[in-house]
Amino acid sequence: MSDKELVKKGVQRIEWAGERMPVLKEIAERWKKEKPLQGLRLGACLHVTTETANLMLTLKEGGAILGLCASNPLSTQDDVAAALNEVYQIPTHAVHGADRDTYYGHINAVLDMGPNITMDDGADLINVLHTERQDLVKNVIGGTEETTTGVIRLKAMEQAGVLKYPVIAVNDAHTKYLFDNRYGTGQSTLDGIMRATNHLVAGTVFVVVGYGWCGKGVARRAAGLGANVAVVEVDPFKQLEAVMDGFRAMDMKQAAEVGEIFVTVTGDINAIDAEHLALMKDGAILANSGHFNVEINLEALAKMAIGRREVRGNVEEFKLPDGRRLYVLAEGRLVNLASAEGHPAHVMDMSFANQALSAEWMSRNAENLERRVYKVPDELDEMVARLKLKSMGVKLQELTEEQKRYLASFEMGTT
Ligand code: ADE
Repeated sequence: MSDKELVKKGVQRIEWAGERMPVLKEIAERWKKEKPLQGLRLGACLHVTTETANLMLTLKEGGAILGLCASNPLSTQDDVAAALNEVYQIPTHAVHGADRDTYYGHINAVLDMGPNITMDDGADLINVLHTERQDLVKNVIGGTEETTTGVIRLKAMEQAGVLKYPVIAVNDAHTKYLFDNRYGTGQSTLDGIMRATNHLVAGTVFVVVGYGWCGKGVARRAAGLGANVAVVEVDPFKQLEAVMDGFRAMDMKQAAEVGEIFVTVTGDINAIDAEHLALMKDGAILANSGHFNVEINLEALAKMAIGRREVRGNVEEFKLPDGRRLYVLAEGRLVNLASAEGHPAHVMDMSFANQALSAEWMSRNAENLERRVYKVPDELDEMVARLKLKSMGVKLQELTEEQKRYLASFEMGTT
C-alpha cells in the first residue's frame, strides 16, 4: 500500500471509530470553547489505534500540545500512525512490529518534548521517566494510567516511596473496568484468536487463566460461541465465582491436560509455565491478553522445542521432541490488539472519556495533590455513565423525594 493509501485508510477508520465515540465527541465540543488544556504538553504512550486517535483529537481540541508513542510493539496500526502524523499533525512515534530499541526510542522521543502530563497504558512512559529521564520529572504536574497492570506497577512505586508525581488510575473507574476490561477484552480476545487461527470455538475446551474482569469477559464470550470453558484462578473468591457462573474450575495442571485453547489474563508472570507446557495436548493453542508478554513462559517453550516456524500470520508452531505441536499466537503479546483491532470504539469511548476528563481534572488540581495514585473522582465517573446512557437513548429512573427520605432514615422497619 502506498503512503497516500495508508493515510487515507487511517483517516477513514479513525472517522468510523469516532462515530462510535459520542461521549468523547461531547467532551471535544465543550473543550473547543473552553480549551482547558491550553498550552499543556501531554505525552501519551497508548496503543496506537483508531480509538486512541480520537482521544488525541479530543485532547488537541482542548488545547494540548501532543506527542504519542505506542504502548506495545505489536498493537500499532500503521495507517492510524500515518494519518495522525500527516493529516492531523499529531506527532506519533510508532511502527507495527518495532524491535526493543525502536520501541524505547519512540518512548524517549515523546519524553523529549518535556511533558507536563503523562498518559500511560502499562506505565512504560512513566517508568522510563522515573529511571533514565529523571531530569524531566520537574516539568510534570501529573499523569494518568489506563490499565490494571500499569496501576499495579504505580501502586508498587507509591508503596516504595519512589513515585514522583500524582497519577490517576483511570483503569479503576467503574465506567472503565466494568465495560472495557469485561466486554472489550472479552470480544476482542475472541476476535484475535479467530482472526489468527480461524479455529472453530464451538465445542473446544477453552481455558481462561485469570478470572478478573478481563477473564470474566473472555470466559463469557467463549461460552457464547459454544466453547466448553474452564477457569484457572489463584483467588478463592474468584474461583468460586467461576464455578457459580457455570464454568468448570480447576488448577493449571488439570487444565493443561484437557485444554485446546488457552488464554492468559492474569497480569502475572509464567501463569502457564514449563510444567504445564509439558502436559499439553498436541495442537494446543496459546494466547495472552494480559498487558505484558510474560504470562506464558515462552523462554521455557523455546528451550523445550526442537523446531519452530510461523505457520500463519500471528501463529508460531513449536515442535516438541515427542512430536507434539503447540501454537503460540502473536508472540504471546496482547492477542486482542496484535491480531485484531483491540476493544471496539463503543467501550473505548468510556475509557477514553475518563482519560480526557482525568487530564482536565489533573490540570486543575495537580498542585493540591500528593505523590500518590488517585481514583478518578466519582463525579467524573458518573458523568461518563450518564453521558453514555444519554447517547444510547437509555432513560435512567430518578428516586422520588419519598424514596430519598426513606434511604436516609433508620426509623422505618417491619410494618
Ligand atoms: N486497549 C484495548 N483496546 C484498545 C483500543 N482499541 N485502543 C486503545 N487501547 C486499547
